[in-house]
Amino acid sequence: MRCLLLAFAFASLIAAQHDTPDRDGGKSKKNPLGDSAEVVDAGRTQYVNSCSGCHGPTAEGGRGPRLAGNGDVRGASDESLFNVIKNGVRGSDMPPSPLPEEKIWQMVAYVRTLNARAYQTRVPGDREAGRATYMGKAGCVKCHRIRGEGGLLGPDLSNIGASRSVAQLRESILKPSERPTEGYDGVTVVLKSGKRIQGIAKDNTNYTIQVMDAQGQLHLLNKAELSEIVFRKGSLMPGDYRDRLSRQELQDVLAYLSRQALRTDAANKEDKQ
Ligand code: HEC
Ligand code: HEC
Repeated sequence: MRCLLLAFAFASLIAAQHDTPDRDGGKSKKNPLGDSAEVVDAGRTQYVNSCSGCHGPTAEGGRGPRLAGNGDVRGASDESLFNVIKNGVRGSDMPPSPLPEEKIWQMVAYVRTLNARAYQTRVPGDREAGRATYMGKAGCVKCHRIRGEGGLLGPDLSNIGASRSVAQLRESILKPSERPTEGYDGVTVVLKSGKRIQGIAKDNTNYTIQVMDAQGQLHLLNKAELSEIVFRKGSLMPGDYRDRLSRQELQDVLAYLSRQALRTDAANKEDKQ
C-alpha cells in the first residue's frame, strides 16, 4: 500500500512538471524532484561519493572541469545536465553513471545550486541569527551597507544575493583578497603635519588623491602635502573569518546575505525549508 502511494506520488510529480523553453533551443524537462533543501543535500552527498574525485570536493575542478561558477552549466537545462551525468561524454573521461534516475536528478539539483544566484537557491541556515552575527560579533556592518544602514569602506550589499552565487559569497567572506572589487583599495596616507588618514582610495591622480575614511568622510588631498602614501596589499576586509566564525555562524551569515536582493519579488520569495 505504502509502495503504491509512493509510486502514485512520484507519478503525479512527473505529471506536474512543466516544460519550459531554455537555451538548448527547445522545450525540456524540469527536475521532477524540485530543488528543496533535502534534495540538494542528498545530491551533495551523492556528488561527494561519485564525482568529487574528478570535479573536486567543492566542484572547483580537477581532472574534470569546474562545475561551480560554470557558465555552460548555468545555461544548460535540467534535462541536458541529467543526460550528461547519466550518459557521460563520449570520447572524454566523463563516465556514464549507473546510478538510479532519482539519484541523478538529486545531483542535477545540487549542481544547479553551484551556479544559481544566491537568492534563487535554498540556503540552509538561520537568517535571523546570521543578521545578528553580521551586525554584532563579525562587525560586517562597520564596512558594508544594506539598504542604507552600515559603513562605507566596503561595497554595498543590498543586492548581493541577486548578483552572486552562494559559492562566490562564501569565497568573498573566507578569502577576501582573492576576490578584489574595483574601487576598494585600502590606503594609508601621512600628511606632512604628521596626521594619518586611513581608508579607501576613491580617486588617485598624479597630483591628488581622494581618501574616504571609516566614518565615510572624503578627504581630497594634494600629493604635495603628503609625506607618505602606502597602498595596502590585499583586502581591507579581515582575512580571518574562517577562524573567527564557527561553521554554523558562517552558514547563517550566508543565509542572511543570500536573501539581500533589491527586486522585492526575489527578496520575498519564500523558501520552504
Ligand atoms: C573520471 C573523471 C570524472 C568523473 C568520475 C566524473 N566526471 Fe564529469 N566530467 C569529466 C570530464 C573530463 C568532463 C569534460 C567532458 C568534455 O570533454 O566535455 C566532465 C564533464 C561533466 C559535466 C559537463 C560540464 C560542462 O562544462 O558542460 C558535468 C555536468 C559533469 N561532468 C558532472 C559530473 C557528475 C555529476 C559526476 C558524478 C556522477 C561526474 N561528472 C563524474 C570527468 C569526470
Ligand atoms: C574592515 C572593513 C570590512 C569588514 C569588517 C568586512 N568587509 Fe566585506 N569587504 C570589504 C571590502 C573593502 C571589500 C571589497 C573587496 C576588496 O577588498 O577589493 C569587501 C567585499 C565583500 C564582499 C564581496 C562583495 C562583492 O561585490 O562581491 C562580500 C560578500 C563581503 N565583503 C561580505 C562581508 C561580510 C559578510 C563581512 C562580515 C562577516 C564583511 N564583509 C566584513 C570590507 C570589509
